[in-house]
Amino acid sequence: MEKKLLRFKLNGLEYEIFINPKTLLVDVIRDHIGFTGTKKGCESGSCGACTVMVEDMAVKSCSVLAMQVEGMNVTTVEGLEKNGKLSPIQEAFLDYGAFQCGFCTPGMLMSATALLKENEGKVLTEEEIREGIEGNICRCTGYNSIIRAIEAVSKGEYKEG
Ligand code: FES
Ligand code: FES
Repeated sequence: MEKKLLRFKLNGLEYEIFINPKTLLVDVIRDHIGFTGTKKGCESGSCGACTVMVEDMAVKSCSVLAMQVEGMNVTTVEGLEKNGKLSPIQEAFLDYGAFQCGFCTPGMLMSATALLKENEGKVLTEEEIREGIEGNICRCTGYNSIIRAIEAVSKGEYKEG
């Protein structure tokens, strides 16, 4: 199949690459560009391990074609830190021990970041947090520590920078 030019921004950097137009976003991120923080789990849109942010929305990168992000800003877990400092939600995950094996963690962090961004300035209820991360499966933690971490950030207990 004829390759097509894809132009988009990943973690603030401009990329121009020629790809098979049927290539999935997760494969461009991991294999073509080499950001392997984004994980591949089910590869069918159910586990959330591959979640990234497209603009400010959480998107399962195994379920979209890379060409669909033409001209857009994509953020992966590697793009969360700023000037060598972890983001508030990353700090909170560490403090609350919100992961065990960590396989779900990059996707969980991206869903949490999108949820917090969408609700900036608002204290989220446990129900809202559960709903916000319902597309992300974690087999290890039982979710409680993850929810406490997101709650702490939404209460303003962790600040950017
Ligand atoms: S790998 Fe994309 S949702 Fe599971
Ligand atoms: S920490 Fe292992 S799946 Fe979530």
